[in-house]
Amino acid sequence: MKEYSVVLSNVTKIFDDSFTAVDNVSLTIEQGEFFSLLGPSGCGKTTILRMIAGFEDPTFGNITLNGKNIIGTPPNEREVNTVFQNYALFPHLNVFENIAFSLRLRREPEDQVRRKVKEMIELTRLNGHVEKMPSQLSGGQKQRVAIARALVGRPTVLLLDEPLAALDAKLRQHMLVELDTIHDEVGITFIYVTHDQSEAMSISDHVAVMNEGEIIQLGTPFEVYESPVNAFVANFIGETNFFTGNVVKVEDEYFLLDTEKFGEIWFYKDMEVIEGQEIQVSLRPEKVKVTRDMPVAPEGVKLNVLKGVVDETIYLGNQTKYTVAIGQSYLKAFKQHVRYLFDEVIITWKDDVYVWWFADDSYVLRETGGVPVEE
Ligand SMILES: Nc1ncnc2c1ncn2[C@@H]1O[C@H](COP(=O)(O)OP(=O)(O)O)[C@@H](O)[C@H]1O
Ligand SMILES: [Mg+2]
Repeated sequence: MKEYSVVLSNVTKIFDDSFTAVDNVSLTIEQGEFFSLLGPSGCGKTTILRMIAGFEDPTFGNITLNGKNIIGTPPNEREVNTVFQNYALFPHLNVFENIAFSLRLRREPEDQVRRKVKEMIELTRLNGHVEKMPSQLSGGQKQRVAIARALVGRPTVLLLDEPLAALDAKLRQHMLVELDTIHDEVGITFIYVTHDQSEAMSISDHVAVMNEGEIIQLGTPFEVYESPVNAFVANFIGETNFFTGNVVKVEDEYFLLDTEKFGEIWFYKDMEVIEGQEIQVSLRPEKVKVTRDMPVAPEGVKLNVLKGVVDETIYLGNQTKYTVAIGQSYLKAFKQHVRYLFDEVIITWKDDVYVWWFADDSYVLRETGGVPVEE
């Protein structure tokens, strides 16, 4: 049997008897996993963490920690600790004493305090900084002290509320890798809150995508990216092209959709669909190719080919983002520069192009209809 670390059952939080910040959320988080709550600002992520930590009580619903109901248990008696965005270090204590703080409160013997703090200093690679005051540390170092301080009391769950938001992009990438390493080393459950999809995607075992107090989709990073349940998830996690229309014909593994913007197009039937049904399909721009020449479909492969004119190009070094006008509508196509040929004639603004993709590379948005195809 799997061990569950944190389980939320139908948890709702209503503030001031009127505002529902968290709406009937159920979550099962396994022992030792790296779990992320991802969603736009104000969607209820922090409120969920505060309920797990014990700073707020749910209005309805239940929370268990390691199999025990914790509603009513005060925060300091829960085996949970939190790392906040603003670090919340004690400015008048040096690094060592910041980390030692909770152990001193519990009046642990001096040799034990020294041993535990030293272990955390090794883990977070703060050697050489123990005597420094918080004001003498860089942002990344402060964050590492906050993590060490939260871990020193050996919680079974670590809550991290946008811990990297105050750092610049390069440092954030670096700290993400460090967090991943720390997680591997301590082996406890991490619940990570962020509004940044790339952060959540890169380190999580599972991601819960939230909006307006609700969990919209829960899955692995691969699942939420490749098969989003609705337009909100598809848009929030990366960029995409949408096709909306009625199913005209169903044939083997494909169906023909009469799309509002591009006419009839074949899509892969990853869900059971029926003729006449209105559905929405998502096609990621990196799956779409832009060429001057008409593509030739290999034997047995279904291609969709549209003719258009390049409307916009954004050169990003590693890739170019194209927007191609097809009649009155637009498609996005991202071209990865895997090679750079100096004699290649670069596709640019106003060029006549073919826009094409493998029919298998799209996904029916689950919530727009259809039922999963039986395995
Ligand atoms: N103590 C509170 N009283 C009233 N409203 C609150 C309180 N705490 C949070 N909220 C509201 O609940 C919603 C969710 O907040 P929060 O959980 O902080 O979102 P997130 O962390 O996803 O940005 C917001 O609209 C916020 O204004
Ligand atoms: Mg928040």
